[in-house]
Amino acid sequence: MEGRTKLTARDIVARKGGAKLTMLAAYDYPIARLIESAGIELILVGDSLGMVVLGYETPVPVTVDDVVYHCRAVVRGAPRTHVVADMPYLSYHLSDEQALANAGRLIQEGGADAVKLEGGRIIAPRIRRIVDAGIPVMGHIGLTPQLAGGSFGVQGQDVASALAIVADAQAVADAGAYAIVVEAIPSELGRIVTEAVAVPTIGIAAGPDCDGQTLVSTDLLGIESKLFLSFAKRYADLGPTIEAAFASYVDEVRSGVFPGPEHSFAMPEETAQALRSALGSE
Ligand code: KIV
Repeated sequence: MEGRTKLTARDIVARKGGAKLTMLAAYDYPIARLIESAGIELILVGDSLGMVVLGYETPVPVTVDDVVYHCRAVVRGAPRTHVVADMPYLSYHLSDEQALANAGRLIQEGGADAVKLEGGRIIAPRIRRIVDAGIPVMGHIGLTPQLAGGSFGVQGQDVASALAIVADAQAVADAGAYAIVVEAIPSELGRIVTEAVAVPTIGIAAGPDCDGQTLVSTDLLGIESKLFLSFAKRYADLGPTIEAAFASYVDEVRSGVFPGPEHSFAMPEETAQALRSALGSE
């Protein structure tokens, strides 16, 4: 999207209750480029990269180095898009110093505009510490996959846990987060949480009343036959298209159709003749 300016954290706060924010999780240069040219405003370099790109079962093995590496590629592909780097498991749990050092790496080395931390009231003081150092923080409450132990179910289905999620949202907002991802909660609770905080909520399976929405780009594109998040919506079915392209390539290589003259370089006739005579094959 030529001419567009990157949203700042402040711009994003100002969108509360206004035009819906759009965010996608993405991990590499070509997809980041396409996301930017489609006009999507935020990219999350999510720790979902562990499962979606690196083939792990959970996000737990993802490291700060992994996120820095993928973040740099995304930033190169989408220089006018607000990029949020996920803080991986145990990269912010040990101490304020550890959290701040790792958040700083994601900004300084990864080139991200903000970091995202999972957790509510317990993690709020850490959010405050990072925000006080001048790094914008996006919160993440409801289903928090780093802590889910592999069970990715709907949260907040009884009064006590619904109230706990509202309290988490308020604590994260009070700690200075500029936006909050709200994952896998009933739509009614998504509305209540959105009304309870002054910063935008970005929903993923949290109903239509959040201030924005996010998905994982590979789910949206239908790259894998199985959705990474079962509640995601698929907007394309690229997996079979990609497979068919790979199969055609194999067929054409084996049958000699590829490479054809248009995919090959011809040698000038005099050079070819001189080469043949130098090799004694003429
Ligand atoms: O890691 C990720 O992609 C996420 C989204 C699902 C919000 O946290």
